[in-house]
Amino acid sequence: MERLQKVIAASGLTSRRKAEDLIKAGKVKVNGKSITELGTKVSSKDEIEVEGKILEKEAKEYYLLNKPRGVITSNSDDKGRKTVRELITTNARIYPVGRLDYDTTGVLLLTNDGEFANIMMHPKNNIDKVYLAKLEGIIKGEQIHQLEDGIPLDDIVVKASRIKCRKINKESNTCMVEITIHEGRNHQVKRMFESVGLHVEKLTRKRIGIFTTEGLHSGEYRKLTPKEVQIVYSYQGK
Ligand code: URA
Repeated sequence: MERLQKVIAASGLTSRRKAEDLIKAGKVKVNGKSITELGTKVSSKDEIEVEGKILEKEAKEYYLLNKPRGVITSNSDDKGRKTVRELITTNARIYPVGRLDYDTTGVLLLTNDGEFANIMMHPKNNIDKVYLAKLEGIIKGEQIHQLEDGIPLDDIVVKASRIKCRKINKESNTCMVEITIHEGRNHQVKRMFESVGLHVEKLTRKRIGIFTTEGLHSGEYRKLTPKEVQIVYSYQGK
């Protein structure tokens, strides 16, 4: 379910601010009923009418990108950097589901389906986000326990739901650690490691839910299958 003004704005008809004005002015109907409440939520099944015209529904599109380094997770960038949106050829108003840093690589989903994006991002759905981090220094058992017990971050405590040291390189004094989290706070993995005194040199997202980069080279993408979309919808409320 999404806010009515957001759905109207996402259709490209007008801005969110103007959509709010139209709702307040009684010019919007949902399933034939006039709605003036700004908080009203609608689903993709609802018929929305703005000033007597039925809102065209854009077909839902879903993409899985193997995000390369040096690309910003955004639809536009005022500094002129390359964006993930530029890597995908479609006219649909898709946007990234969550965010990977400029230098982070790996699994990134993009869609124009707000409900799908909400399901993937909501921590209550406990969807695994699995990262492989190259760390400066060698992680100690005590640091692993701290990450498993929980780290205060912003206003919450975040935990590694799984963490495993995969490789140790004594010569370069680095290690590869696989960490699974369920939230998606800004720079969460880097900040979690920093908080136990470890710097992340490289980071890649290996998996989110059922999605991996299998079969995709860096910068390549594919459409999700209807079955995959259906599986994501089945996560809701579990
Ligand atoms: N955590 C980070 O620190 N960076 C990312 O890009 C994703 C998760």
